[in-house]
Amino acid sequence: MPALSLTDLQHRVETLNGFPSLPAILFPVLNQLSANTDEIDLHKTVQMVSHDGALSSQVLHMANSPLFGMRQRVNSLRGAALTLGVHRLRDIVTSCCLMQVSPRTSEVNAAALWEHSLACALVSRNLARKLGYSDPERAYLAGLIHDLGLLVNMLLVPKEYTAAYKKAASARRSLRDVELEEMGLSHEITGDLLCTHWHLFDYLSEVMRRHHDVEKATLDPMLTALVNIADLLCRTSGLGYGYTEDLVVTLQEEPAWRIINEHSPRVKHLDMACFTLEIEAYVNEVRAMVNALFCL
Ligand SMILES: [Fe+2]
Ligand SMILES: [Fe+2]
Repeated sequence: MPALSLTDLQHRVETLNGFPSLPAILFPVLNQLSANTDEIDLHKTVQMVSHDGALSSQVLHMANSPLFGMRQRVNSLRGAALTLGVHRLRDIVTSCCLMQVSPRTSEVNAAALWEHSLACALVSRNLARKLGYSDPERAYLAGLIHDLGLLVNMLLVPKEYTAAYKKAASARRSLRDVELEEMGLSHEITGDLLCTHWHLFDYLSEVMRRHHDVEKATLDPMLTALVNIADLLCRTSGLGYGYTEDLVVTLQEEPAWRIINEHSPRVKHLDMACFTLEIEAYVNEVRAMVNALFCL
């Protein structure tokens, strides 16, 4: 298959021809990221979400998942916002909005992509907390959207992407390596193009661009390294891209692990065996939640 040209892809991303429009609420919600907690208007956020029926039921479903640590069931968006806090509500809304634009065809496993993304978000935040990274919520968002380029490829270059996905799955190889071979470029490039087009934050752009090439991260290397390790841990724990990869990870040999060691003295106290067990406990819950959200 001929390699895709960057100019052609750039043009497709700029026109977003074939990309479904996102629920209108996503950008106002993402903009709340830059506001101080006391400036965030909870009432307004809840009101915006409640205008979208499908989104409201997805948010409530997700808010009631044990993954988000709710002790008691919530039945209203306002109740969810008050119990979870506005940042967690924002994370849930972002997850639901992005899932709404995913293709539902069986050829490419979009549900698996969201299982992976959601798991990476949870693992990135958890790892960030344990390692004393200053903004664990930022780590959640970065984990959630690190592979957004795969969604771009599914939607904008479906033929090329499907061929690469099938080849990677049958050979149990890294999707990124096969994308590079088959398409001439991989999802980090398209994710970054989308980030620029949507005017997302620079740190998100860097994570999209560098999460498989962490040594080139300059803006927030620790964040990119956290997402890289979360990605590897999820892929080796059954929360990859919907197929089993022949992937063996030795943390000490990973460039991201070296960066984490440079930035966090707490890494010495991290019990990795215990941490990996925690991830395995997510598997069924993440799967059940994504499946339910895809059906709502
Ligand atoms: Fe990736
Ligand atoms: Fe990934």
